[in-house]
Amino acid sequence: MDALTAGLKKAAIASAQRHLFLCMGPDCCVPADAEILWEYVKQRVRESGAQAMRTKAQCFRICTGGPWVVVYPEGVWYGEMTKARFDRVLAEHVLGGVPVAEWAVATNALCGQKQA
Ligand code: FES
Repeated sequence: MDALTAGLKKAAIASAQRHLFLCMGPDCCVPADAEILWEYVKQRVRESGAQAMRTKAQCFRICTGGPWVVVYPEGVWYGEMTKARFDRVLAEHVLGGVPVAEWAVATNALCGQKQA
């Protein structure tokens, strides 16, 4: 297997059903807290078996109310993320397919069309 094929496989490009991005700060949250949350997100995604890619982001330009997590393909933005909140987002949205509406601060699926 060549390096590119191996990388695509490791990243789960072909099998991912969702992609999670977590802002690591520094302005919407404390970077050290975001790092702890990031490790938790990785652990919980792995343990749950969710077909979800996860990626660190370095500022979404919101810069308040974080840490921010955005879940694609729905494009749901969750602020003030905590371990407990992430467990619910993982169960209901990432695994269950139903966004946690009460915590969805904004939604934009980036489908190339204007949102209603
Ligand atoms: S630092 Fe998180 S949105 Fe800017």
